[in-house]
This record gives sequence, structure tokens and C-alpha cells, in this order.
Amino acid sequence: MKGSWSSTSIIPVTLYFLFSFIHNFADVLAAPTRHLCRPEQRDTLVKFKNEFKIGKRSPYCRSGHPKTESWGNNRDCCNWEGITCDAKSGEVIKLNLTCSSLHGRFHSNSSIRNLRFLTTLDLAGNDFSGQIMSSIENLSHLTTLYLSYNHFFGQILSSIGNLSHLTTLDLSYNHFSGQILYSIGNLSHLTTLDLSDNQFSGQIPSSIGNISNLTDLDLFDNNFVGEIPSSFGNLNQLVVLDVSYNKLSGNFPNVLLNLTGLSLLSVSNNQFTGSLPPNITSLSNLMGFSASYNAFAGTFPSFLFTIPSLTEIDLSHNQLEGTLEFGNISSPSKLLLLNIGRNNFIGPIPRSISKLVNLRVLGLSHLNTQGPVDISIFFHLKSLEYLDLSHLSIPTRINLNDILSYFKRLTVLDLSGNHVSATNKSLVSDPLIDSLFLSGCGITDFPEILRTQYELYFLDISNNKIKGQVPNWLWRLPNLTYVNLSNNTFMGFESSSKKHGLFSVQKPSIMKHLVGSNNSFTGKIPSFICELRFLNTLDLSDNNFNGSIPRCMGNLKSTLSVLNLGQNNLSGGLPKHIFESLRSLDVGHNQLVGKLPRSLIRFSTLEVLNVESNRITDTFPFWLSSLPELQVLVLRSNAFHGPIHRASFPMLRIIDISNNHFNGTLPTEYFVKWSGMSSLGKNEDQSNEKYMGSYYYYDSIVLMNRGVALELVRILKIYTAIDFSGNKFEGEIPKSIGLLKELHVLNLSNNAFTGCISSSVGNLRELESLDVSQNKLSGEIPQELGNLSYLAYMNFSHNQLSGLVPGGNQFQTQPCSSFEDNLALFGSSLEEVCRDIHTPASHQQYETPETEEEEEEVISCIAAAIGFIPGIVFGLTIGYILVFYKPKWFHEPFWPKQL
Ligand SMILES: *[C@@H]1O[C@H](CO)[C@@H](O)[C@H](O)[C@H]1NC(C)=O
Ligand SMILES: *[C@@H]1O[C@H](CO)[C@@H](O)[C@H](O)[C@H]1NC(C)=O
Ligand SMILES: *[C@@H]1O[C@H](CO)[C@@H](O)[C@H](O)[C@H]1NC(C)=O
Ligand SMILES: *[C@@H]1O[C@H](CO)[C@@H](O)[C@H](O)[C@H]1NC(C)=O
Ligand SMILES: *[C@@H]1O[C@H](CO)[C@@H](O)[C@H](O)[C@H]1NC(C)=O
Ligand SMILES: *[C@@H]1O[C@H](CO)[C@@H](O)[C@H](O)[C@H]1NC(C)=O
Ligand SMILES: *[C@@H]1O[C@H](CO)[C@@H](O)[C@H](O)[C@H]1NC(C)=O
Ligand SMILES: *[C@@H]1O[C@H](CO)[C@@H](O)[C@H](O)[C@H]1NC(C)=O
Repeated sequence: MKGSWSSTSIIPVTLYFLFSFIHNFADVLAAPTRHLCRPEQRDTLVKFKNEFKIGKRSPYCRSGHPKTESWGNNRDCCNWEGITCDAKSGEVIKLNLTCSSLHGRFHSNSSIRNLRFLTTLDLAGNDFSGQIMSSIENLSHLTTLYLSYNHFFGQILSSIGNLSHLTTLDLSYNHFSGQILYSIGNLSHLTTLDLSDNQFSGQIPSSIGNISNLTDLDLFDNNFVGEIPSSFGNLNQLVVLDVSYNKLSGNFPNVLLNLTGLSLLSVSNNQFTGSLPPNITSLSNLMGFSASYNAFAGTFPSFLFTIPSLTEIDLSHNQLEGTLEFGNISSPSKLLLLNIGRNNFIGPIPRSISKLVNLRVLGLSHLNTQGPVDISIFFHLKSLEYLDLSHLSIPTRINLNDILSYFKRLTVLDLSGNHVSATNKSLVSDPLIDSLFLSGCGITDFPEILRTQYELYFLDISNNKIKGQVPNWLWRLPNLTYVNLSNNTFMGFESSSKKHGLFSVQKPSIMKHLVGSNNSFTGKIPSFICELRFLNTLDLSDNNFNGSIPRCMGNLKSTLSVLNLGQNNLSGGLPKHIFESLRSLDVGHNQLVGKLPRSLIRFSTLEVLNVESNRITDTFPFWLSSLPELQVLVLRSNAFHGPIHRASFPMLRIIDISNNHFNGTLPTEYFVKWSGMSSLGKNEDQSNEKYMGSYYYYDSIVLMNRGVALELVRILKIYTAIDFSGNKFEGEIPKSIGLLKELHVLNLSNNAFTGCISSSVGNLRELESLDVSQNKLSGEIPQELGNLSYLAYMNFSHNQLSGLVPGGNQFQTQPCSSFEDNLALFGSSLEEVCRDIHTPASHQQYETPETEEEEEEVISCIAAAIGFIPGIVFGLTIGYILVFYKPKWFHEPFWPKQL
């Protein structure tokens, strides 16, 4: 989201400037060398070069070229690019291959280990992977080590202690993991330690507190837990401390108040509690302070304003409460950034805010103002560039024109959740906004004032009451990249008055994300969409579009990544040869006919395919199993038919083929290869995104869970489900189902399954919902199910089950109806849940078995179950993970760093 200073991104941005400053500052100019390089070192360098390939430039590098490419052109390796030799001895002492497009894996035997005299090694911004630590453990002269922005993994070995001369260690933006060992404290000369953006876990070792010369300590974006070690109180040279985006807890670490040289302190995005200590004012050099996204409580810490150096304060997303009281603000205040949004503050905005004349960023979101706000109190804040006044609960209307005429430098404006009005009059002097959030503002007409907002990049005008046509001038705003029109009552898109299409006069629109879901659009999908040549996301779901999917959309085939046309009245077949770069395709709830196009097999990036509730007539698309990324497959409620026995989907995590005409039996080993549901690690995921999709669009689906249709507004990447219900499957439930250790939802109801419920179902430790009702299952309910502690819903009704119903809490909380209409179930669990039911019919259904035959049948079932040896239970217990998130659209920091 270019140019959008989302509230929480400000501090990292500042840190970024500081980092690049330090980085550049540390760069020592290469001295010209006299000595020729040593032959064995030249050979080593050539070997090293040959260990790697030259690939694409890392996305983190603004510039750079493959420095190793020219190596060997000249005999003196001391003259090769990126190499510095010692002027006297001729030893290679510096190797700097930053941003050199190198690609490949480090092995422990890498020849780099022979460059024994290296003092500086900079490999930042390449595509290296592997466990580099063992190859460099003997480079004991190293003082400077930059490995950032690669794909290195593995642990930091205790041998890191050998590198005792290091003054700079930067491992940031890799996939290093494991605990940080105590021996890191041996690196006593370190001034910069950057471990940020890795997967380090465990506690922060207290030995870091012994590295007394540290000035810059970055631990953000890892999985550190526990408290900040009290030894940090000794780091009295510290200038930058960033521990944000971890799972740290406890009270605000008072030991930090000893660090009077601190300039930037970020503890944001952790689980800190308690109040902020008033003596934080002892940090008299503090410039940036972020405590956002924690659970800090107490009243507004107005004492922060007395720290004269402070320019950035972010306290948003906490549980601070009471009225806002800014106290004595030194005049004129230096404060550039103040974000106190998303707390529980109530009451008026203090008039003294007008003293913060240098503010560039102001976030007051979710302030319960308990009355009207006089916008004029902001009059003096002439420098505002970013203003977040969303959800202020102001009873009166905010006039958009007023805001624009007061704040001439504004580029980001969020008025979501207020009453907003706008007149059509726009002024030449209006600021040019690049991100505008007007969601849920009760707007009834498209704001004409936007017509002259030529810099507009991001527009969210969702959740309003805008009627009529989407104006065609919108597509002529040259920088517009994201538009969210969802949840209004738009009827159509205004057509162009010009003869040659919408964009003939202007340059083509660079629109990338267009969301128009949940409106009243009718008619055919407009063909101007096909002219949006950069379109990446198109969501027109939940409208009344009819006709077929336009063929011209083939124009978009190389850019379109998300297409959601669900919940319309589209007819015809699915287009055959388009959309090959799709990640997500949803055409559910239409009237599409025909077969699934076999060309889907070329959609190598497809992750989500949802064709539910159409009239598709086809056999089971087992050929989709060759799609390497397919994770969600929904074929529900169509006319699919025939057997499914050939399917095997290694990545699949959600499959719903319910309410079709599939039939036949499933072989015992059916689920053996479905590894996406058997272990979490299988889906190796580089991004930290918890949900499927991205900031611009999160996938959503509706699935049956616990007997009700549940909308997953976002799909957690660890969510797994199998729904085969409402078909004509017969034979036994495959025993290999017990291998799907990560399965959360299993619905096999309404088929013709026979035989016993395999005791291997007892291995499904994560199961929340189990429905096997309306089959012909016989035998006992396996006692092992009584141990499944997350199993909140189960349904065994309408089968021929008999025997003892397992004990355990979960069984005792089911309704009686979950067991009704079986042969002869009994047991104390059942008596408990059916206690209040006295109808003669139900009474009859839960008799104890009387005949010998029935007992024998139960025994034979158990014997059969033993024949199948389930895999060993292992893996993480994530626990209860069903998450129901709203709203779908929200703003989140997005500010990729670059080298
Ligand atoms: C390595 O070289 C780049 C320029 O290519 C420079 O920006 C960087 O500071 C150098 N790194 C070190 C550690 O000197
Ligand atoms: C280094 O080890 C890797 C695998 O461990 C091997 O493939 C490679 O040939 C070795 N290279 C050298 C130079 O010994
Ligand atoms: C810390 O820095 C000071 C001043 O640069 C230096 O004299 C001292 O040796 C350093 N201490 C360590 C342990 O590196
Ligand atoms: C604060 O720093 C001083 C030295 O500057 C040190 O003696 C003291 O132990 C530190 N206090 C804490 C709580 O770490
Ligand atoms: C700050 O105040 C807290 C109590 O509020 C106290 O425990 C701590 O020692 C004080 N720290 C300094 C440096 O004054
Ligand atoms: C649609 O917008 C209205 C306000 O106009 C809001 O109350 C409602 O919650 C929104 N619906 C969705 C699904 O976001
Ligand atoms: C708008 O686009 C122009 C070029 O098309 C570019 O120079 C300008 O920086 C863009 N403005 C914004 C805010 O992105
Ligand atoms: C499955 O259904 C088809 C009709 O759709 C039928 O021809 C076939 O015999 C059935 N197969 C089995 C095993 O019942």
C-alpha cells in the first residue's frame, strides 16, 4: 500500500532510516591494494563463486549487479569487485557481495571457510539458503558480518562464540530458528546485533545484557517469549531497542528506564500488560516510542509529553482508558507523530492538541468523543499528512470539503465509521490525497469531489448507501490502484461517453484491485473490466450479474490472481483458456453448466477453487491432484458423479464435495497421501500470513461445521476439513482417515457407509466436528473418541450403531438427537444427555443390548480395527482454532524495507 502510512508502520519506517544510516556509516572505503593476491586465496574465491548460480536480483535491493561475474578477468583477485586485501600481507580481508543476485545453498564444506583472514563478510540481499553458520564458525577475525535478506535457516550454533571479534552481527530477514544460546553473550565487542525477522524462539538470553557496548539491538518479528531480561539494564550505550512483533509479556520492563541514551524504543505487538511508568521520562533522549498492540492499561500517559526530544508516540491498540488529558505541552511541541487510536478513551479531544503544531501523523481512531467534535481544534495542525479520525462516534457530520480545505498537506485520510458529507465543490488548492478511507460513512452519492483527486491511489468507499452508477471518471484517475466499492447499492457502471472506450484519451488504468462485492449490479459483466490490463484482484461477488463470463477477460490472464464472481446469476460454462495465473477462483452460487475445463490443469498457482452450487455435470476431477498449490477444493451442490477413488491431493487442506452424486467405495488406504491434513509442516510457508490471501483480498468460504453453515470470512492456513456428505458412498470408512492428524472437521453424513467406525478416528486429535449421521454404520462407537478433547460437535444419529457410548466431557454435552435412531446404544453418557427426553420412541432406541448376536458384532468390529496400525501421534497441538473474523477489509501496515 504505497504511500499509506498505516499507523503502526511509522516507527519501523523511522527505524529504517536509522538503520540505513548506520549501515552506510559503517561502510569503509576500500583502500587501493599494492600486493597481488595469494594464489590459494584466488582459487578459493573461484571455487566459492562456482558454488552458486547467478539468478534474479533480490526484491530487497534497489540496485546491485552480480559482482562475481567479472571475477577471474584479471589475475590479481585483490582487484576483483567486492574484494579487499590487506595492503601489507595481501590476504583477502573483506568480501562484500551484497545485492549480487547470487543463488544457491551453503554447505558446511563451502570454500568460504578457507578465507581465514576475513574481517568483513557482507552477503546481504542475495538468494542464499542453507545453514551457513557451520561454514563460518572458524572465521575468527570477523568483525563485521551481514547475512540479512537471504533464506538462510538453521540455528545459531554455540560456535558463534568463536567469532569473538564481531562488532556487527546482522542476521535479519532470514529463516533462522531455535533458541538463542547463552554463548551469544561472549560476543562482547558487539555494537550492533540484529536478529529481526527470523523465527527465533524461547526466551531472550540474559547474557545479551553483558554486551556492554551494544548501541543497536533489534529482535523484532520473532517468536520470543517471556520477559525482557533484567540484565538489559546494563546496556547503557543502547540507542535503538526494538523487540516488537514477538510474544513477550509481563509489565513494562522498568529496567529499560536505566537506558538513558535510548533514542528509539519499540515494544509494540507483544503481550505486555500493566501501566506505563511515569518515570519513563528519565529516557530523556527518546525520540521514538511505540507500545502499540499490547494490553497496556491505565490512563493516558500525559507525562510522555514532557520528554523534550520525543517526536513519535504510538500507543494505539491497547486498553488505555479515561479521558484524554495532554497536560502541559511545551510550545511549540516537536511531536511529529501521535497515534493513540484503538484504546478505550472517552470524552472530548483536549484543546491543547492545537499546540502540536508540527504533527504530521495523528491517529485518534475509536475515540469515544461523547459529543460533537469541533474540527477547528485541529486548525493549527497545518503539517498533517496522515489523519485517522475513524470511528469517533461523533453524532454530527464531518464535512469532507472542510477537512480538505484545512489540511493542505494531507495524503492519507481515514474517516471510516463517521457520518461524512461532501459537497461537489472542489478547490484547486485541495490537497492531493493518496489514500482515502470512507467506509461506513452513510454516504449516499458518489463523492464528486474525488473527480479532481488525481493522486488517489487507494480508495475504500465500502459499506455506504451509494446508489446508481459507478462514475466512469473514476477509472481515469491515473494513479488509482485499489478501489473497494463493496456493500453499497450500486446498480451499474456508467458507460463511457467517448467512442473509443474508456481509456482511449488517457493512458491505460493501472488499477490492480477492484472489489465490488455485495451491491446490486445487474446485466452483463461490463467489458471495460477487460481493459484494466494490470488487474490482479477482481471481486464482483454477491450481485445480480447475468449472462456468461466474458471471453475478453482472457486479456487479463497473465495478471489476474484472484477472481471472485460467486453469488450472481451467471450462466454458460466456465471459460476454457483463460486465467492461468489465478491463485483463487470462486464462481460458487451461479447457474454455470457443463464440465470443469480440463485447462485448469495448467493453473499451476491455483490454491483455492470453489464452484459450489452450480449445475456442473462432471466426474471427479482427480486430474486436479497435479496442481502443486491446490489447498481448497469446493465442489458442493453440483451434479458431479461417479467414483472418487483415484484422488490423492498432497497439499489439500479443505475439500468439500458434498451434495453431489458421487458413489462407489473408498479403499482403506485412500487418505495415505493426503499429507496437507496429516502434518502442518508440509505446507512450507515463507510468509508469516496466517490467512489464505493477502492484505488486498482474503479468501473466504462457507463450510458446514458442527451442524451449521459457517462462514469463514478468512481461511486460517491451519484449518482443515473434509466434507463428503450427501453423496452415495458405500463400503467402509477408510481406516487411513486416522492418519489425518490435523483434521478439524469431518462430515461423512448422508451416504451409505457400512461397517464399523474405525477406532483410528480416535487419532484425530484436532477434530472439532464429526458427523457420520444417516449412514448404515454398525458396531460400536470407538471408545477412543472419548479422549478427543476438542471434539465439540458429533452426530451419530440414523445408523445401526450399538454398544456403549464413550464417556468423557465431550460426549456428555451433545444433544440427545445426536444419537437417535440407532440399533442399541447405551451408557451413562447417553442417559445424561437424554435425561429430559421421555417420548416413547426415543426411549425405545436406547436399550441395552439383549441378544448375543449383537454383542458378537461389537467384538468383531474391535478386532477389525486392531488390524490397522495407525501412525504415531505427533505434531503440535494448536488447539481450538476456529476463527470467525470480521471485517473482511481493514488496514494493516505494509511497508517493505529495502536495502
Ligand atoms: C558492501 O557494498 C555495498 C555497495 O555495493 C555497500 O553499500 C555496503 O555498505 C558494503 N558493505 C560493507 C559491510 O562494507
Ligand atoms: C560439499 O558438500 C555437498 C553436500 O554435502 C557436496 O554435494 C559437495 O560436492 C561438497 N563440495 C565439496 C567442494 O566438497
Ligand atoms: C567498548 O567501547 C570502548 C570505546 O570504544 C572500548 O574502549 C572498549 O574496549 C569496548 N569494550 C568492549 C568489550 O569491546
Ligand atoms: C543502571 O545502570 C547502572 C550503570 O549505569 C548500573 O550500575 C545499574 O545496575 C543499572 N540498573 C539496573 C536496574 O540495571
Ligand atoms: C521507575 O518507577 C518504578 C516504579 O514505578 C520503579 O520500580 C523503578 O525503579 C523506577 N526506575 C527508575 C529508573 O527510576
Ligand atoms: C454493509 O454496510 C452497512 C452500513 O451501510 C453495515 O451496517 C453492514 O454491517 C455492512 N455489511 C457488511 C456485510 O459489511
Ligand atoms: C502518480 O503517478 C505519477 C506518474 O504516473 C507519479 O509520478 C506520481 O508519483 C504518482 N503519485 C503518487 C502519489 O503515487
Ligand atoms: C455410480 O453411479 C452411476 C450412475 O451415475 C452408475 O452407473 C454406477 O453403476 C454407480 N456405481 C456404483 C459403484 O454404484
